[in-house]
Amino acid sequence: METGVRRDGALPGAMEEGVRFVHLDELHYFRGRLAEDVMSDDGAILLQRGSDIAALLKAMPGVIRSLRRWKREYLPIRISPSVSEDEFETILKTIEPKIEMLDPQLARRAIDQVDEVYSVISEHGQSKEGIEILSREAGRLANDVVKSPQILLCLGKVKDSDEYTFVHSLNVALLSGYLASILRPGDEELVRVMTFGGLLHDLGKALVPREILNKPGKLTSEEYGVMKTHAIQGTVTAVASGVSDGRILSVVRNHHERWEGDGYPDGLRGNRISFQARIAAVADVFDALTSKRIYKDPIRSREAVSMIMESSGSSFDAAIVRALLVTVGLYPPGSVVELSDGSMGIVTGVRHKDLLRPQVLITADTRGRRPESPLIKDLSLEGDLYITRSLEDMGKGVTYEVSASG
Ligand SMILES: [Fe+2]
Repeated sequence: METGVRRDGALPGAMEEGVRFVHLDELHYFRGRLAEDVMSDDGAILLQRGSDIAALLKAMPGVIRSLRRWKREYLPIRISPSVSEDEFETILKTIEPKIEMLDPQLARRAIDQVDEVYSVISEHGQSKEGIEILSREAGRLANDVVKSPQILLCLGKVKDSDEYTFVHSLNVALLSGYLASILRPGDEELVRVMTFGGLLHDLGKALVPREILNKPGKLTSEEYGVMKTHAIQGTVTAVASGVSDGRILSVVRNHHERWEGDGYPDGLRGNRISFQARIAAVADVFDALTSKRIYKDPIRSREAVSMIMESSGSSFDAAIVRALLVTVGLYPPGSVVELSDGSMGIVTGVRHKDLLRPQVLITADTRGRRPESPLIKDLSLEGDLYITRSLEDMGKGVTYEVSASG
């Protein structure tokens, strides 16, 4: 089988796309799965097709020696362009000085503080002190949003359903803040308002019974009626807790209004809905669609953007949907892409506002090998290198649980 295979691992004509013959000496540089069964001369299966190469090397340290004994010098490997989430996180940490990421501890603190505020509110109906702390956390998050185009890599994943509302609040804060920075460049005050507003937007859910809030599946119309009260309850609670900024209160009250007037609680239309609430509405729906819940899988960000675009001008403000498209529509952070030189990688963000040429963390070089040290290429600076296709989404990149324990 190995005869005629080039030693550089290039594809022989008959092999499927993405499959390369890898010499045993180089096996540990590659990530992928065995593309065919490896058989002994008498037809017994020695290694099974689909086996993960890294796992195989780990589980069977003597496997290379055995393969040599069986005179198998090359293995057909289907190269994996992706990395595991743990690996991705480790790589990002290694290169952190090169890209400005949201501080994970700051993110964790914000989530915990939202949690704390919710529990005080569910007991006492207001939380002046908690909201004050949250406002300071929002200010710090807003600073990171302003300086970090990679912010969307930091959208968190939900560990359990109890945590959903808190992580969702952080995600809406980050995305709303980022959309604000695209819509009104240089308006840092708006970013701050949107970040704080995002953290508070579902505050009223602190008063919605948990069975309804975390119900796996569709709500009855009665339950939905209770759920809808969170918009007004949240506003009342925010005012009782000392929030007086009308822009922030409008986010809490009106983030479920829809452009053509069929939202709640006030049925406002078009520009009668505050700019801030219109931004939060888009961020809220985007994060809900791309989040995993017990009753649904997350959908890819590109698909979420398409769905939201279909309602542009009917449910959502078209200008804000455009900003979302610019932010996450083309190659959102986390997209796995193939480059024109045959290498593959994961989009980490856009540096120079050129959406076609984002920054890419290289996960497989031109020969399919994993670079020995983390390598980021800024395509806006690499004249002849471009994306040829998008392979898959890694979804949301970073979990805060891991970072928080440190
Ligand atoms: Fe809401």
